[in-house]
Amino acid sequence: MKKLLKITLSVIVALLLLIMAIIGYIKFFLPSIDPPELKVELTPDRIERGDYLANSLMGCMDCHAQRDWSKFTGPTFMNTRGGGGVKWSPEMGFPGELIAPNITNLKDWSDGEIYRAITCGVSKDGTPLFPIMPYLTYGQLEKEDIYSVIAYLRTLEPQENEVPERALDFPLNIIVHTMPTEGGHQLKLNPDNEVEYGKYLLTAAACYDCHTQQDQGQYLEEMAYAGGMEFPLETGGVVRSANITPDPETGLGKWTKEQFIEKFKSYADSGFVAYEVKENEYNTFMPWTYYANLQENELGAIFTYLQTLSPVKNKVEKFTAN
Ligand code: HEC
Ligand code: HEC
Repeated sequence: MKKLLKITLSVIVALLLLIMAIIGYIKFFLPSIDPPELKVELTPDRIERGDYLANSLMGCMDCHAQRDWSKFTGPTFMNTRGGGGVKWSPEMGFPGELIAPNITNLKDWSDGEIYRAITCGVSKDGTPLFPIMPYLTYGQLEKEDIYSVIAYLRTLEPQENEVPERALDFPLNIIVHTMPTEGGHQLKLNPDNEVEYGKYLLTAAACYDCHTQQDQGQYLEEMAYAGGMEFPLETGGVVRSANITPDPETGLGKWTKEQFIEKFKSYADSGFVAYEVKENEYNTFMPWTYYANLQENELGAIFTYLQTLSPVKNKVEKFTAN
């Protein structure tokens, strides 16, 4: 009996040591992705393309800024663009606290280090980034577009804003070390192929991230683009992302390309951003006013690609007041 107990105890101790060794390995040796040798030349073309990508299509400045949720679509306070500020917290169902950092003060970062953060999810000091920062999607894009974003970031006026360090709950604080991954840059920016072009733009804009429901921080693949993700509003109530699969009843199946383009372009009027949202009134996280800057052919290609997805039946109630 005693002998059996001894053996059992040794097995348990051995297992604990093994688990500790694995956690230690994950924490201290992962992620192991070196920044590439890279020098991005700051050409006017790149800076202009980077401005468009960062401010309109890819939404960098949407997350890395403070937002005014008393106005329609929560416009960014202009003087905080790039300075960091959007926060994820337990009240939103996030397992920890995370604030999008200041990305106007990267002068000590090499181009390779910025590239690695955007496409692989590793900070300058090797810290793994949590994939709310959409590096898993950005890593699929053409390298040239990433270089343009880097060129644009180099032109930003540095802001003083200090963002507090993130705090992730256990076990996410360990798991996050396994998340960074080298981007494969597998998508091609090819305007001659409408479906391919639409897929590229949709990926760059990370539409999936908001239009796909999650369970415990994991995306439900079978609900891809079927909407229903909840966004609690500061002014009260909850808005939910729409079903943008081609389901005729609950998605975009009956929409025409013209209607789709028109819907986005209707938000180009700056009056929308000035609109004051009152307590418990409808507001939205959908970045309509940013996307209104997209070209009509880009929006058309996004629509064409969306129509190739499998339809998913999922009726979403857009807004519920408190
Ligand atoms: C959906 C919101 C979101 C979008 C869009 C987004 N980011 Fe981030 N970004 C974050 C968050 C949150 C972090 C911090 C993650 C962490 O620390 O785990 C981050 C981290 C970073 C970092 C690392 C900073 C540091 O100090 O470690 C860089 C650089 C960065 N983002 C650049 C960009 C660029 C460039 C774009 C656009 C191409 C972009 N981000 C788009 C949310 C976002
Ligand atoms: C930050 C989160 C977020 C991102 C990113 C986002 N959406 Fe949305 N979207 C929403 C929310 C929330 C709604 C529902 C409220 C509304 O209609 O404004 C919505 C609504 C929509 C609608 C309206 C559908 C209807 O039935 O009226 C369309 C179309 C749409 N999104 C397409 C897209 C596309 C295409 C992209 C990428 C280019 C995208 N969204 C990116 C959050 C997002």
